[in-house]
Amino acid sequence: MRKPIIAGNWKMYKTAKESSDFVKQLQEKLKNVQDREIVVCPVSLAIPAVVDALQFSNIQVGAQDGHWENEGAFTGNVSPSMLKEVGVKYIVLGHSERRQYDGETDERVNRKLKNVLKNGLRAIVCVGETLQEREAGKMEQVLETQLTGCFTDIGLGDLTSIVIAYEPVWAIGTGKNATPEQANEVHLFIRKFIEKKYNVEAAQAIRIQYGGSVKPENIKQLMGQPDIDGALVGGASLKTDSFCAIVQF
Ligand code: PGA
Repeated sequence: MRKPIIAGNWKMYKTAKESSDFVKQLQEKLKNVQDREIVVCPVSLAIPAVVDALQFSNIQVGAQDGHWENEGAFTGNVSPSMLKEVGVKYIVLGHSERRQYDGETDERVNRKLKNVLKNGLRAIVCVGETLQEREAGKMEQVLETQLTGCFTDIGLGDLTSIVIAYEPVWAIGTGKNATPEQANEVHLFIRKFIEKKYNVEAAQAIRIQYGGSVKPENIKQLMGQPDIDGALVGGASLKTDSFCAIVQF
């Protein structure tokens, strides 16, 4: 049985103070949730305040990126070992906004993933096609390329520390979500990739989240699909009511 995982990706929203006030409210409302994993991913500057506010909580803290080295001359970056030290459990890698604005590539995601794993942390690896790619009939090819690149030399034993997030770029922040059936079809394609590269047990065990305009209004139908194991939520994770409704779908 795959335990559902709901993660809030706060992007570049909420200061440290706003973040810690916010998670205190979340914690109060979600403290009895046991049957699903809950993760919040604030900006790195806010992480220590959020970890502090969530001591003894069932809500885990994630980061939105982490470097492939643990230290070095990499201006502006933060490393997984540094994130681990302040209490981070998950690191999101390969988000489409980083691919679009920060030159993220599958090769870099792969290097970062290896370092996340080396540090004993868990990763949420994001993949997804653009509208142009989908309309050109290249969706499967694009996903295959992204998955092949991101999972190069990743061992079978590491898969238990990895969650995949399928986020069609055209559905992110646009209000246009993939239909539950459309999303499930792609999730199945991703699961088949894992089956081919590893084995059927690994494919059945890995959790695949859907991301892209997830809201309280559509979470139930999405989670009702057999291959959707959770959600990576942007906009709707920034408000207590909507995030709590999504977590408690
Ligand atoms: P959205 O973002 O929920 O605002 O569409 C999802 C994401 O970028 O992870």
